[in-house]
Formats: sequence, structure tokens, C-alpha cells
Amino acid sequence: MNYKNLFPIFSHHPELAFLDSASTTQKPQAVIDSISDFYSHDYANVHRGIYKLSETSSELFESSRETVKNFINAKKSSEIVFTRGTTESINLIAATWGEENIEADDEIILSTLEHHSNYLPWLNLATKKHAHIKKIPLTDDLTLDLDAYEKLLSSKTKLVTITALSNATGEIIDLKKIITLAHKFNATVIVDAAQSISHLKTDVQDLNCDFLVFSGHKMFGPTGIGILYGKAEILDKIPPYHTGGSMVVNIENDTPTYHAPPQKFEAGTPNIAGTIALKQAIQFIQKIELKNIQTHCQDLTSQARQILEQYPNLTIHSPKANNSIFSFSIEGIHPHDISTIFDSENVAIRAGHHCAKPLMEALKVPATARLSLHLYNTPQDLDKLDLAIKKCFKIFK
Ligand code: ALA
Repeated sequence: MNYKNLFPIFSHHPELAFLDSASTTQKPQAVIDSISDFYSHDYANVHRGIYKLSETSSELFESSRETVKNFINAKKSSEIVFTRGTTESINLIAATWGEENIEADDEIILSTLEHHSNYLPWLNLATKKHAHIKKIPLTDDLTLDLDAYEKLLSSKTKLVTITALSNATGEIIDLKKIITLAHKFNATVIVDAAQSISHLKTDVQDLNCDFLVFSGHKMFGPTGIGILYGKAEILDKIPPYHTGGSMVVNIENDTPTYHAPPQKFEAGTPNIAGTIALKQAIQFIQKIELKNIQTHCQDLTSQARQILEQYPNLTIHSPKANNSIFSFSIEGIHPHDISTIFDSENVAIRAGHHCAKPLMEALKVPATARLSLHLYNTPQDLDKLDLAIKKCFKIFK
């Protein structure tokens, strides 16, 4: 099935093979229309106005929260906090839950695959609190070493924070195993679902994770809207992150009483249009169905692997069972040059460290080229990829 025509960008760039969806996804018409429709018909601030337009705007905003809640199967909509993105969601957890719960000599386990947004907030907190970061290493076949993970766990482990799908290698992580083991040691678990959310089914109750975070822009939604899911009993206890408008019930004698979650964590005027358009992005995914997205992307992943494996001087830095994302190097050609040559063939990829320096260290490379696939990609895009690789070899022969 060709889904390309659901995304207007490709009618403006018909030759483009967009292989950079791990960075951000393109937007379907319904999401684009939602933003302009909302500003044209229903726009007013939320949770503040005692007039019809503001009430409509608030209802649309809260209906988006309900849609997110159902999409990830949270128990309550109050467990869904709107943020600016995955990065802000993780920083929020570090600054609130982390500040209150991480102490000297505690251990934080994360993986070698983590994006900097799930590494730096913890590195900084650990430094401040004299706690320790432990990294789950990779096996020789470039998968996460779960035996090593089990050995890292101890009564000192306070937090395990883990990606669901690596942004650089495309490995799908066995979250259930990781979470079950962590909970045996009473550790809190955060899942970074930024890459997985538009590819794999997410059920927070089934996973039993304590927090789960993701961004709208990697699931066909707008930029500047993200989600923090947290179990109600945890969100109830932790302090606010940002303080300001619309998050206090009252202030008397300089003593604020905060709203219950999620309002406690949503100070200031939010990204109202982006939040409302996120609902359209989720409904778009639901209409196509995640299982169809997965089949489509897995077929393309197999085809991409066949192409990459043809070239002896090309090294794939992704494990055999990856999903939609490949990191690779071509001997003697810098990833930035690969990307520039690809661009001359209308093939868009990312080149660099992919905000995953611990992984680059483990791979012993400064950078890689990365291609990432999604719903709108086609076998023809992969033919272009093949031609672009051939051009690299021709130029650098
Ligand atoms: N986190 C995004 C990526 O992996 C930007 O490219």
C-alpha cells in the first residue's frame, strides 16, 4: 500500500526519499488542517475563561488528553501530563522525582543506547547527588546485554531508565523483562518511547512502567507537544516542575496549594493547538492501525537490509532484528559526505552521533550515517537509496 499521498509534503517534493523519520515524521493532512481549523474556529486560552469559546477550547484540549490516555491504556487521564516533548518530560522527572528520591551512592541504570535526553539529565543529577550511572553494555551482535543488566541490578538501584526502540540502531528492547527485573529491586522504571510510539503498541498497564515519555512530532503530530505518563500515586507525591499560572488552587500567606496532577505540572499557557492536533495524529495512527504500520515498516526494513548488505565496504551498526532504523558506515567516507551525496540524489538521512555518544563510543566510531523508515516510504525510495550508495562509491573510488 502506498501511503505517501496522505502526506502533502510529498506532493511538493515528489522526488524526495525521506529516510529521516527517526529525527521527525512528516505530517498527514488531518494534522495540518487541525492546526489551522482550531485557530480559525475555536481558539481561546484553556482552563481560564468563563465564556463559551474558552470552554470549547478547553474541551478540545482535554479530549486530546483522553485520546492519549486510551492510546497508551493509562488508568486515568490525570496520569497524562502535556509537556513540550520527550526531553522536557525526562527533565521534569529528573528535577522532581529524581531530586526527591536519588541520594548519594544510589545507582541509576540506563543503557548504552540512550539518547542524550535520557542520559544527560541523569548524569547531571548523579553528579550533583554523588550517585552513580551504570550503563547496560551491548553484546557483540549489537543487542542490549540483558545478562549484564541483571548483574548490574542491586539494592542500590533506584532507577532504571530505558529506551523502547533505539534511535540509532533500531533495536526493539525487551521492556517487560527489564521492568519486571527492576521492580524486584524496588527500582522505579522510566520508558523512553519517543521512537517506538508510532511503530509499536504501547500499553502502560501491561508494561507496568512507572513513567513513560514520548513526543508528538515523531508520531505524525506537531512539534512542541510531548507526553509524560506517570502512575497516579507517583505524580500525586512529587513536587511541580515549573511554577506559574494555572497550577495553584490558592496562595495564602505566601503558601501555595497546588492543583492535583496533571495541572500541577502544566504551568503557563500550553501548546493548545499542538495538543489538539496530537489527537488527530493518534486518530490517524488508529485508522491505519499500528499492526499495518509495523508490517509495512518491517517489509521495508528487510528490503533496506538486503540493499546495505550488498556492499562489502559498508558496515551496518544495527542488530539483525531491528525495526525501521539502520546506522551504517562506508569505509573511507565520512558520514557527512555520505549524507551530502545522498542529498544530491534526493535521499534525506541523518549523519552524526545521533545524540547517542555512549553508543558511538561503544561502536568505536565518531559518527554514523542513519536511515530511518516510516509509513510513507516505498520500495522506490529504497531504489533511490541504492543509487545514492552507488554514487558514494563512484565519487570516492
Ligand atoms: N532524537 C532525534 C533523532 O534521533 C532528533 O534524530
